[in-house]
Amino acid sequence: MSFQAPIGTRDIFAPESKTIGALIAKFASLVELAGFDLLISPLFEDYEVFARSAGQASEVVSKEMYVFSDRGGREMALRPEGTASVVRAFIQHQNPTPFKAWYATPAFRYEKPQAGRYRQHHQLGLEVIGSASPSCDIEIIELATSFLKSIGISNFTLLVNSMGDENCRPLYREALLDYLGSKKTELCQDHQDRFKLNPLRVLDCKKPECTSVTKDAPMIDAMLCQECSSHHQEVLKGLSLLAIDFISAPRLVRGFDYYTRTTFEIQSNSLDSSQNAIGGGGRYDKLVEKLGGKSETPGIGFGMGLERLVLVLEANGIEIAPKQSPDVYLVDLSSNLNSPVLAGLLRRCGISVDYSYEKGSMKSQMRHANKSGATLAIIFGQRELERGLYKIKDLATGEESEVPLTAIEEAILEKLSKIG
Ligand code: HAM
Repeated sequence: MSFQAPIGTRDIFAPESKTIGALIAKFASLVELAGFDLLISPLFEDYEVFARSAGQASEVVSKEMYVFSDRGGREMALRPEGTASVVRAFIQHQNPTPFKAWYATPAFRYEKPQAGRYRQHHQLGLEVIGSASPSCDIEIIELATSFLKSIGISNFTLLVNSMGDENCRPLYREALLDYLGSKKTELCQDHQDRFKLNPLRVLDCKKPECTSVTKDAPMIDAMLCQECSSHHQEVLKGLSLLAIDFISAPRLVRGFDYYTRTTFEIQSNSLDSSQNAIGGGGRYDKLVEKLGGKSETPGIGFGMGLERLVLVLEANGIEIAPKQSPDVYLVDLSSNLNSPVLAGLLRRCGISVDYSYEKGSMKSQMRHANKSGATLAIIFGQRELERGLYKIKDLATGEESEVPLTAIEEAILEKLSKIG
């Protein structure tokens, strides 16, 4: 019997795994400059952590979450997204504010697998907890877009919206409900039955019946209260000052109930429209309170899909982790185990080294050396070892020289620096 990775999951090998490693490293160095620290939290939580955050009626909780009972009979869920765990950890450990954390995490959603949509995907994300200032919103949108530009991705569209707060959103919801109620029979079948549960979701429906009805629906931007409206204007002003292009998107409804005020999504112009969201985020000013923390503790963050970033890089021919050939290949014709020792000593000096575990003939080892793309070969047999002299060969020019063991590191570094 042979086993396969579960449907919707993948084994990620090099070069994709290398690209993902490089994306994580670049993200870390960028956001650490802005004071974010890595947070590693459990991949599963009490079911309620996710249910209360994203909302029982959200697709993620009602249809996609991996829920299980542990052996102690507790109801648990695999993380479908990163925000809820960060907020739970923040509350549990009573961290001082502003609390700034970044993460790189797998996330699990029982979705219909297709290109760019998996049941286990991976996200880079960050969260700031403890400030309602529009500065935070501007800072995190700036970080998200700067990160993309730093990896060579510039053909994206940033959509920005405000979802209002507990004062204005209910009024908007009522207005939308009334409108949708008056057009109920024109909605898609699914939304005819369900629009009352979460009318905002209808704005996100891609079916032609719904898109046609919602063309003339009331939009949230016209119904924001004074506070939300000026918060939103400040955010937009900051983005303009930073020359960050955006599109105001009053129809932008994100899939979690926790959002308040600023929400945004970054769509790639190189991906198919059904999977073109490479990142998204927003404010969740009531989430800390909802999960049992102090009231009046606002928060904001974003998550980006690593698999989708890889697809965009590939679509644009951008390589951020090119395959690296070794500096040196050891061609060991001696009868002893010299290669691992010499390789170990050279690697300690920062020189990358490869060699064949199974020693073959000179011809076959040289073939491997050339195939590896190494810059130099160090060739030695019993005779060279006895004389204490190693042959260094430039694999591009064929030029050879003999170097004593004590000077080998220096000679290699010198040759590598000349070759560049
Ligand atoms: P999200 O939009 O659900 O937001 O996910 C963030 C990103 O993860 C998406 O834009 C997409 O690139 C990627 N993604 C989501 N689902 C899949 C999937 N099934 N397969 C591949 N990639 C996927 C969140 O998760 C929020 N926690 C973001 C946030 C952080 N909001 C505030 N703070």
